[in-house]
Amino acid sequence: MKLLVTGGAGFIGSNYIRYALSAHPDYRVINLDRLTYAGNLENLREVESSPGYTFIKGDIRDRDCLRDVEFDAIINFAAESHVDRSILDASPFLQTNIMGTHNLLEIARERACAFLHVSTDEVYGSTETGFFNEASPLQPNSPYAASKASSDMLVRAYVETYKIRAMITRCSNNYGPYQFPEKLVPLVIINALNRRPVPVYGDGMNVRDWIYAEDHCRAIDAVLHKGSAGEVYNIGSRNERPNIEVIRLLLEKVAGHLGLNKDELTGLINFVRDREGHDRRYAIDPSKVEKQLGWRPGTSFEEGISKTVDWYISNRQWWQRIISGEYMKYYDAQYGERLKK
Ligand code: NAD
Ligand code: DAU
Repeated sequence: MKLLVTGGAGFIGSNYIRYALSAHPDYRVINLDRLTYAGNLENLREVESSPGYTFIKGDIRDRDCLRDVEFDAIINFAAESHVDRSILDASPFLQTNIMGTHNLLEIARERACAFLHVSTDEVYGSTETGFFNEASPLQPNSPYAASKASSDMLVRAYVETYKIRAMITRCSNNYGPYQFPEKLVPLVIINALNRRPVPVYGDGMNVRDWIYAEDHCRAIDAVLHKGSAGEVYNIGSRNERPNIEVIRLLLEKVAGHLGLNKDELTGLINFVRDREGHDRRYAIDPSKVEKQLGWRPGTSFEEGISKTVDWYISNRQWWQRIISGEYMKYYDAQYGERLKK
């Protein structure tokens, strides 16, 4: 199978590429990524010289960059993904998440190839009680969520109108290795290691449903191989936590690594102004993917958080190169010379 993975230099996409190349050694994986601030080829060092892996620097909005590339299926991870950035400026979100997905849908239609669209539980909006299932209405509240909901609607329309073989996954909050330090989990770990304040939005009681990224990747793979065209699959590991609880656990784990008492870093907690339109609670019902595709999460929250803290401590250079901006030069070092020839 030849897979086109878009956004494969980002957090979940790079975890998926590593997973796919080890789970399916006979697959060819083509990574198409524009390398925005969130794209980091250093995430793929382990696989960059694998015979099954190819990287193309390109934009999902550009039809021409895929003209001579062959593939059997597209997995679309490429997106602007950070809610706070979408509040500051929505336009890149509309451009990539909506127009980019539309372009890929056109390509999937022309080539009659399978299309797996990686979406989010944020499209359902916020709920104080109960769980969202795949039939819940889409009620996005942030510009990011609205752009993802729009792309989901386009996928649905292309399935209905052109009968393309598309599926949508809607996953909850991911954490794990290679997550960009703007997101809550790596931000807390890195700030704690640097003894810097940890910003907690509002009262810290907003609830997110956390999943270890590798579990998400296995679920995507299950949907790719066993899912039915036209279907939506919620992915989550039934693991809701208020933010403050997640933050306290992370601070405790980092303190343990630094040889401190478990509460010694809690003084870093700094309650700050709330995010505009901050969704109170996300909670999804993953029974469909569990029952129909036999997927189950493999990593408990305690275990996943411990592994993640260990990873950020053992890979300081990875995040220090992001903070300094050095990571942006990796593409030129790896590919610049080759491209000049
Ligand atoms: P990320 O921000 O870490 O990575 C996004 C990647 O997309 C980057 O490599 C970036 O360079 C690339 N990209 C952006 N615009 C592009 C364009 N126009 N053309 C080609 N590449 C482009 O994001 P992530 O956290 O890995 O999320 C991946 C996908 O999963 C997104 O679609 C996101 O909506 C979805 N998702 C994320 C989470 C989460 O918790 N992070 C949860 C559910 C769903
Ligand atoms: O639910 C899935 C979504 O999860 C994905 O679709 C998004 O791409 C991904 O970014 C994530 O969105 P969130 O907004 O939930 O993630 P973030 O890490 O930005 O924030 C998690 C929670 O922590 C949220 O309630 C806001 C809060 N927060 C975040 C940051 C960065 C803080 O309290 N302080 C912070 O500094």
